[in-house]
Amino acid sequence: MSDGEKGGRGGFQTDLGFVLAAAGSAVGLGNIWKFPYITGEYGGGAFVLIYLACIALVGLPLLYAEMIIGRRGGKDVLDSMSALTAHSGLPGRLATWGVGLLAVGSGFFILSFYAVVAGWAVHFVAISLGLASSDASGSEATFTALAGNGGLSAWWHTVFMGLVILVVAGGVQSGIERACKILMPALMAILLALLAYVGVTGGLGSSLAFLFEPDFSKVSGEAVLEALGHAFFTLSLGMGAMVTYGSYLQSDRHVVRDQLAVAFLDTTIALVAGLVIFAVVFSMGAEPGAGPGLVFITLPDLFAQIPGGAFVSLAFFVLLVVAAWSSGISLLEVVVALGVDRFGWSRKTAAIGIGLLVWALGLPSAFSGEFLDFMDNLTTRYMLPTGGLLIALAAGWLLTTEDREAGFAALPGGGAALAATWTFTIRFVTPVLVLLVILHGLGVF
Ligand code: TRP
Repeated sequence: MSDGEKGGRGGFQTDLGFVLAAAGSAVGLGNIWKFPYITGEYGGGAFVLIYLACIALVGLPLLYAEMIIGRRGGKDVLDSMSALTAHSGLPGRLATWGVGLLAVGSGFFILSFYAVVAGWAVHFVAISLGLASSDASGSEATFTALAGNGGLSAWWHTVFMGLVILVVAGGVQSGIERACKILMPALMAILLALLAYVGVTGGLGSSLAFLFEPDFSKVSGEAVLEALGHAFFTLSLGMGAMVTYGSYLQSDRHVVRDQLAVAFLDTTIALVAGLVIFAVVFSMGAEPGAGPGLVFITLPDLFAQIPGGAFVSLAFFVLLVVAAWSSGISLLEVVVALGVDRFGWSRKTAAIGIGLLVWALGLPSAFSGEFLDFMDNLTTRYMLPTGGLLIALAAGWLLTTEDREAGFAALPGGGAALAATWTFTIRFVTPVLVLLVILHGLGVF
């Protein structure tokens, strides 16, 4: 058995491979499409600061919790939770089944609409290559014609799901790890090239000021909750994606360092994407608060007017597709791992079978924007936070101290102070903050 084949179920061959795959999961439409537009809507710098605080107080503690549960449990999310919490009796069983069901549901639901949005990005790649035509009357019309055309949206959704299934069927090491080792460096290279471009063509100064000079008069309770919810989504938390990837990790040694690397990459890439996008927006005198259409309407409009715009547009939308691809892979992998580990299905059968079901579930989202929003809200506002709450409570209160602190114990010097800080946070701070997100979602305040 090679190193990469722990227990015969596959695994990441290298530590770098794990970091890139987990970062690939985290960096997605959330970073390049959603983060810039919500930052624009909530007024910039102050929102960014709040978001960073949420990453620290909710994101990092949960990321460690998920990775260590996977690493110690060594199986898909349901079986890992079960292995580590069974000794606690009923609370353990409730947490296990709650998280397991939410994970499968979220995997299906999120990927189903995520693939439709990612499919739109593929369409814009096709436009940039001259393979599809844009509407002569402007970007707004182009986007409306795409999103309003169920057949066309479904076609690109199909293409995207095909790409995702292909990689997941290939296995952890020769599919996921290999793909992410190419996709993530490519993504960073494109992003840096775009940053260099706006550095030369202007707008970077206003963009920096917008993102990093906080104006707290624009902060509302609403903004805080939005930032908290987004911290979740952007780090792929609350549905066992990081549990599943953690289960393919070889040792406890690097869990803490790796989770910091993943959070750092995710945050940096979101900020750089924001810098690039707002530089383009400000250099053309456009509005930062354009909402969800920022990437699909405002940007293409601006690309059409700038020097070398067609090429910049191509680079940008390839970036978006690549980011979404490695995230889609992790969403499918959560459910596939469960089929393989628990039901003994072959990886290929599981990837294709489950992938086809997700594809079918995505069709209503391709044909109806309202259905897409419904899926988005259901998962982001309710299912992920509930899953995250259960994972935080299980990690903080049900795991044995040895399992809980394994990643810190592996640090030079034993990491006792860090372990104590983390334990306190995951027991008290994270659950309370996540509960606030859930109550807000329910309209309690
Ligand atoms: N983190 C991804 C993004 O920012 C989306 C994502 C992938 C995700 N896997 C997930 C979100 C699992 C929640 C749970 O686009």
